[in-house]
Amino acid sequence: MALALLVPGGRGQLGRDVAAAAPDDGLVHAPSSAELDLTDASAVADAVAVFASTARDAGFRPVVVNAAAYTAVDAAETDAERASEVNAAGPENLATSCREHNVPLLHVSTDYVFPGDGTRPYEPTDETGPKSVYGRTKLDGEQRVLSTWDRSWVVRTAWVYGQHGNNFVKTMARLATTNDTLSVVDDQVGSPTWSLDLAHGLLELAAAVSSGSTPPRVLHATGGGETTWCGFARAIFTELGLDPTRVHPCTTADFPRPAPRPAYSVLSGKAWADAGLTPLRHWQTALTAAVATHAVP
Ligand SMILES: NC(=O)c1ccc[n+]([C@@H]2O[C@H](COP(=O)([O-])OP(=O)(O)OC[C@H]3O[C@@H](n4cnc5c(N)ncnc54)[C@H](OP(=O)(O)O)[C@@H]3O)[C@@H](O)[C@H]2O)c1
Repeated sequence: MALALLVPGGRGQLGRDVAAAAPDDGLVHAPSSAELDLTDASAVADAVAVFASTARDAGFRPVVVNAAAYTAVDAAETDAERASEVNAAGPENLATSCREHNVPLLHVSTDYVFPGDGTRPYEPTDETGPKSVYGRTKLDGEQRVLSTWDRSWVVRTAWVYGQHGNNFVKTMARLATTNDTLSVVDDQVGSPTWSLDLAHGLLELAAAVSSGSTPPRVLHATGGGETTWCGFARAIFTELGLDPTRVHPCTTADFPRPAPRPAYSVLSGKAWADAGLTPLRHWQTALTAAVATHAVP
């Protein structure tokens, strides 16, 4: 039986790729924040009710994939109330309505729930400890979703870039046209993730849980391997046919930002693979494919 997907945040970077990657034999509704505001509990209740009954009447298995979030990491430091509404109360509204209609929920979260002082990839069961308002609100959202509805799954990802929206790849490509050289931080380690690869992973998970699989409720899905922002920038330059030595390493201390970033936030994909889900490809292979298909820049 084919899937029907409701994708709140459907006009965001990831939401648009989830909709694009969805198989043609199903149904997809990917509303913008104006069409479905997760902080409006009654709008969420109505939307999930209509979605669930439309999907089932048409013979599809409904799944909600939440791609909506307050993602302005620095702005969140001085806008904590709104960040909490969107990242914690909103997902709780969604989980409540999904429980009401017995619809599985996949909720996307972030590496920023971790403190970033680790030395090996974080497992989903590792202790969290967000350092930023964004990370705290996302962790709160995870906990509310998991405790509200037992057919909900949290998928943490990291360093996402894709065709739609502003991201690091596009920023590097733009700066390459205006700056001879660039300084990029070389003391934060993570895993770049192409949103289209993540979208395919989420769809695989959606198919699994909608047919009764019960993987662990918190999973990690990022591009394989790891690098620093400087390493990522150099790889972007190389892919674009530019000289990567134009990118110079610097430290986080050289570029203070309002929100602290984890120094090390590589997420282990072991639980994902152990659950029988296809690991996302290595970040460098994905970047090559994303540039080759003109998804970026
Ligand atoms: N980008 C990254 O590097 C990264 C890293 C780790 C995890 N993540 C997670 O991945 C997920 C997708 O992120 P993304 O990169 O696709 O972010 P994005 O491009 O900023 O998309 C987020 C979407 O959420 C929508 N939204 C905001 N407030 C909303 C509300 N109250 N109700 C409904 N929709 C609302 C936004 O709409 P408006 O633009 O209209 O406000 C936007 O379209 C998020 O959960 C994020 O936390 C992202």
